Amino acid sequence: MASLTVRQLDDKLKRLLRLRAARHSRSMEDEVRVILRQAAEETGLETLDLINPPTQPGWQKARAVTAETKRILLIIGGGIAAYKSLDLIRRLQERGAQVRCILTAAAQHFVTPLSVGALAGERAYTDLFDPTSEFDVGHIRMARDTDLVVVAPATADLIARVAHGHASDLATAVLLATDKPVLIAPAMNPYMWAAKATQRNLAQLTADGVRVVGPNAGEMAERGEAGIGRMAEPLEIASAALAIIRGAGALAGKRVLVTSGPTSEPIDPVRVLANRSSGKQGHAIAAAAAAAGAEVVLVSGPVNLPDPPGVSAVHVETARQMLAAVEKALPADVAVFAAAVADWRPQQMSQSKIKKHGRPPTIELVENPDILSTIAHRKSGRPRLVVGFAAETDHVVANAKAKLLKKGCDWILANDVSPETGIMGGDSNTIHVVTADVVESWPPQSKDEVARALVVRIAAALEEAKR
Ligand code: C5P
Repeated sequence: MASLTVRQLDDKLKRLLRLRAARHSRSMEDEVRVILRQAAEETGLETLDLINPPTQPGWQKARAVTAETKRILLIIGGGIAAYKSLDLIRRLQERGAQVRCILTAAAQHFVTPLSVGALAGERAYTDLFDPTSEFDVGHIRMARDTDLVVVAPATADLIARVAHGHASDLATAVLLATDKPVLIAPAMNPYMWAAKATQRNLAQLTADGVRVVGPNAGEMAERGEAGIGRMAEPLEIASAALAIIRGAGALAGKRVLVTSGPTSEPIDPVRVLANRSSGKQGHAIAAAAAAAGAEVVLVSGPVNLPDPPGVSAVHVETARQMLAAVEKALPADVAVFAAAVADWRPQQMSQSKIKKHGRPPTIELVENPDILSTIAHRKSGRPRLVVGFAAETDHVVANAKAKLLKKGCDWILANDVSPETGIMGGDSNTIHVVTADVVESWPPQSKDEVARALVVRIAAALEEAKR
């Protein structure tokens, strides 16, 4: 059968098609697919082969475009991890997404537009000044005519150019022009990742609302190099992408339990043993989970923060009260233990105020229950996903791994609180997500952003567990 392209239509038809596509916020090609699908359905055709692209050898058949189809624009940057992006296309398609791809000039040193186009089921775009693609789709429409933009691999150079608003090629022009969420999967050498300039650029991007997945720790392509910088696995990126697209409803129908703030252990009626936790991170997580549609129970020690909207808050003072409130709030799908629980309490609380005269009192301490460990080790009624926190000053990842095993939880969110990070008392947080399989390092971001990223990660994990 002869092939028909939009370019071959007569001008009047093309104008009509352009208007109709614009009205539906679709590309002209997508509009044609929708029209053909409707026509096929009306004529009762079982097979929708008509709407697939020309069947050249090796080409994947594009999925039928429906109102439910999620459209993802995948920008492939120029790093060795670009080979994994071929697999990512498949993983996204398996999850019902229609994938359109852009390759940077550097990406074409690693993968070809032909292989990318073959997997995506439509041509891959490479050039900002290509009159054909500008006419058919156009970079502005490409930027808007999608539900999400994913950049994988996001190289140090691409991250730097996007952070500074460059629009010198198709990838950066689209990223500057898009009004849709953007998810980036950084991939680079550990030294490039740790470089101050890269971290500055990432902080700028996350402040601008860009979401980040990975990078993970592990072996690099270069012999003998290991550390943080490996691109997240295609499955992780696909899950994060779908969780973002689902957005507000990502945790709908899920019950999430969060502990927050310090505990306060009475010495006598006026004195307490406590710690300095502000509760900002735990409260932000409860708020983000509620905003994602979860039913949230927040068990909080004494803090100077209002209860976040839409959560059921239980206010407690001591670790034992916190454990009792947590057990009462079960069952839950997910439990996040962000509280800074006092490790010890006075063995005996004096019923009257201890007087100052004479020798200072000796206060005998006993250990408090470990709430995280108690819940994570439950034989029955254990939440499907149990997340703990760990504040560390050195050997952050190694200590977090040890804690993961000891506490029996699924993830530890470790934050580096060494003085040079400036995290203590600050509003920003640098998190390493340590799981049994991977260590994922997030760029420095505000506690609200950490909370939103954690919600996306949780939603993605629950989704993956279903598959
Ligand atoms: O042992 P460490 O205090 O470093 O562990 C931190 C993690 O354990 C946090 O998630 C904290 O909420 C939780 N934890 C707990 N009960 C305790 C001590 C810590 O739930 N008694």
